Amino acid sequence: MKKHFVEKVLSNEQIAFNTYLLRFTCDDEMLRLFRPGQFAHVKIPCAGEMLLRRPISINCADFRKKEVHLAYNPVGKGTRLLTAVKPGDLLDVLMPLGNGFRIMPDMKKIWLVGGGIGCAPLQSMFDKYQDKEYKAFLGFRSKDSVYQVEDFKLYADVYVSTDDGTCGEHAFCTQVLEKALEHDKPDVILACGPGPFFRSLAAVVGDIPTQVSLEQRMGCGTGMCATCVCKVGGEHRRVCVEGPVFDIKEVDALNG
Ligand SMILES: Cc1cc2nc3c(=O)[nH]c(=O)nc-3n(C[C@H](O)[C@H](O)[C@H](O)COP(=O)(O)OP(=O)(O)OC[C@H]3O[C@@H](n4cnc5c(N)ncnc54)[C@H](O)[C@@H]3O)c2cc1C
Ligand code: FES
Repeated sequence: MKKHFVEKVLSNEQIAFNTYLLRFTCDDEMLRLFRPGQFAHVKIPCAGEMLLRRPISINCADFRKKEVHLAYNPVGKGTRLLTAVKPGDLLDVLMPLGNGFRIMPDMKKIWLVGGGIGCAPLQSMFDKYQDKEYKAFLGFRSKDSVYQVEDFKLYADVYVSTDDGTCGEHAFCTQVLEKALEHDKPDVILACGPGPFFRSLAAVVGDIPTQVSLEQRMGCGTGMCATCVCKVGGEHRRVCVEGPVFDIKEVDALNG
C-alpha cells in the first residue's frame, strides 16, 4: 500500500494569527485510503536530512479537487521553516498515517470539540461523513486566532468561544460543551486540543463515548522507534500507529 508521496504545493498562506494553511496536490490512492483523524508526516523542505519529519493532521482531503490541506501553527524550527514553502515547491509526505476516528453507522449525532489548532483534524470529518447531524464547539485564544469557522458552518451548528471574550462566548469550549450537555446528548464526541483541554473534557463528558486525537512527539511516524508511546488501557501504545485517536476512557493520563 503506497504511503509515500511527493506532491506539488498549491498555496501556503497565513489564515489567522500564527496559523497557516498548506494546500497540496494528492492522488486518488491516498484519498481512497484516508480516514478523518489521520495525519501526514511531512519532510520539512530546506531543513536537510538532520530534521525529522513533523506530524500534522489532515485538515481536509478534497476528493473533487484532489488536494489535501494541513493547518498548522509555527511553533519551532520545523514548522517555522514550513512557512517558507511556496506554490510549485515539492513536498515529501508520508500519509495517511495512524488510525482515524472510528465512526459506526449508528452514530448519527456527532459533536466535535476543538481547541485552537486542534480544530483542524475535526474539519476533515465533513470530507467523508456529510450525512451526520453535527454540532461543533470551537475554542480559540482570541478573535485573531479564529480560523475556518465558516467552513464548519456549512455542515454543523457552530459554537465559538474565546479565552478573552473577543469573539463568541467568553469561555473555554469545554465549558460551552458542558452547558450544551445539560439539554442534549450526542452519540459520540470527537475532540482534539492542547494538553489541559483534554483534562477539562474528561471531566465533563461522563458516559458519552468520546474519542480524542492525541499529540505526542514523534520520530519515524510508522511504529518503528517508540518515541511516541503513551499509556493507554494500562499498556504502552504507539500514538503513530495505534493512535492518534483513542477512547478518552482508555488514556491513563486522563483517568485518575
Ligand atoms: C498526530 C499529530 C497531529 C498533529 N497535528 C497538528 C496540526 O494539525 N497542526 C499543528 O500545528 N500541529 C500539529 N501537531 C503538532 C506538531 O507536530 C508540532 O507542533 C511540530 O512537530 C513541532 O515541530 P517544530 O520543529 O516546529 O517544533 P520543535 O522545535 O520540535 O518544538 C517546538 C515546540 O513544539 C512542541 N512539540 C514538538 N513536537 C510536538 C508534537 N508532536 N506535538 C505537540 N507538540 C509538539 C515542543 O514540545 C516545543 O514546545 C500534531 C502532532 C501530532 C503527533
Ligand atoms: S514515532 Fe516512531 S514509533 Fe511512533
